[in-house]
Amino acid sequence: MAKVRQTWGTRLGIIMAVAGSAIGLGNFLRFPVQAAANGGGAFMIPYFISLFLLGIPLMWIEWTLGRYGGGFEHGTAPGIFHTMWQKNRFIKYFGVIGIFGPLVIFIYYTYIESWTLAYSFFALTGKYGNLATQSSMQSFLKGFQGLESNQHFSSIISAYIFFIITFFANIVVIYYGIKGGIEKLCKIAMPLLLGFGIIIMVRVLTLGTPDAARPSWNLVNGLGFLWNPDFSALKSARVWLAAAGQIFFTLSVGIGVILTYASYLSKGDDVVLSGLSAVSMNELAEVVLGGSIVIPAAFVFFGPQEIQGIAKSGAFNLGFVTMPLVFQKLIFGAFFGCIWFLLLFFAGITSSVSLAQPAVAFLEDEFDISRKRAVSIFAAACFVLCQPAIFLLGKGVVNELDFWGGTFCLVLFATAETILFAWVFGMERAWQEIHHGADMEVPKIYKAIIKYITPLFLLLILGFWLYQEGLPTILMKNTPTADRPFVLGARIFLIFIFIVLAVMVKIAWRRKRLKI
Ligand code: ALA
Repeated sequence: MAKVRQTWGTRLGIIMAVAGSAIGLGNFLRFPVQAAANGGGAFMIPYFISLFLLGIPLMWIEWTLGRYGGGFEHGTAPGIFHTMWQKNRFIKYFGVIGIFGPLVIFIYYTYIESWTLAYSFFALTGKYGNLATQSSMQSFLKGFQGLESNQHFSSIISAYIFFIITFFANIVVIYYGIKGGIEKLCKIAMPLLLGFGIIIMVRVLTLGTPDAARPSWNLVNGLGFLWNPDFSALKSARVWLAAAGQIFFTLSVGIGVILTYASYLSKGDDVVLSGLSAVSMNELAEVVLGGSIVIPAAFVFFGPQEIQGIAKSGAFNLGFVTMPLVFQKLIFGAFFGCIWFLLLFFAGITSSVSLAQPAVAFLEDEFDISRKRAVSIFAAACFVLCQPAIFLLGKGVVNELDFWGGTFCLVLFATAETILFAWVFGMERAWQEIHHGADMEVPKIYKAIIKYITPLFLLLILGFWLYQEGLPTILMKNTPTADRPFVLGARIFLIFIFIVLAVMVKIAWRRKRLKI
């Protein structure tokens, strides 16, 4: 008997799930750091230009392609690309990027997500309760991560236990499937996440001037530090690249996950308004919540001097070192700390289950096996693949996985799918396909944007990166010498994963041919 493809339960369910995939650690930690480092308020100019010229069109492209592919029982890029360009024998191998990218991100993302669960527990139990300086909190984090043995942690064992809990929580959700697992999770986690975000935002926005002896350490100046525009930043190409990169990461476009989620829609389901609703929810969480919490709060308690270093110290430092210190200074700090890390955990898990789904859908669709079997194979393989990210964290391995899986592949994949959609599939057909069952019409200008501007913008980003950073990155020029063997090892590991996936595509297609 032919297998029946899974479907979403409700329209709200899929919007919540796509918004859940988009709203992640990137909204609350990565965005404020990027904005602070790249011109503050002025960053929002390239940011919104990238949103309208890349983010929104790519969201529509991926929803449409996913729904189209689902109609042919394909939920991942190899099958979808092949259906769109049947004459080309190689395009399905290009589609491997759409399984490879999310799998690679999943490998390290789940580990970082597990820290948020651990820290919500630590906040509640007061485990870091008496630490009051950046350096002591940093040493707590390093001990936890197993990077040093200190009075807080003698080994990585606690981190490993939280990783196992988080990993299996992800597996249980995908085991219960699209409707019974992912949709249910997102319908509960998303309102909680937004509720926690609003509570913390209100607390931060009512901080005022907590220390009368330091009147300039106040909320208005904190907001000003993040949002006052430095227009000279717009002259730098780096700022434009950072804005485009943030749009990709935050919306989860170019990864392959939206293709898979949309493949469980029916032909007549709307994608235009639903896609736009998911983008709007993400932007609300990013610009309003993400932009009003960490940096303004850190400014109020650490002042205009220290904030410079804090903003430059990166997203993890801000989330796991500075924020716990901020909460220590508040009344009911344990409560605020706990809900802050739970918020990050919900943001993380609703994203990580979406990162797992393409690999699971690939096994189900192309090898015709049951969901439960596909999830078991995925769990066993992924558990092994996660280990280098855990044990080689301090050796540059996670950065390397993040660069290739979480940055480079996104732009490459987005370029390929846009060209396929607008040029190979054809813009007239693509336009019709977008509007099947649509609840609103896409503004006509987007026909030209999708056909010319989005691919051109993407090619410019790729070309610029290759010209400016391609060779030094490939030659590991900016990698510390001690880390180079590990970074090289990470690259071999990545090539190995890609080859295994490509061979699996070959086997799947051969089996299908033999069946016909
Ligand atoms: N879109 C997800 C995030 O922002 C991956 O974290």
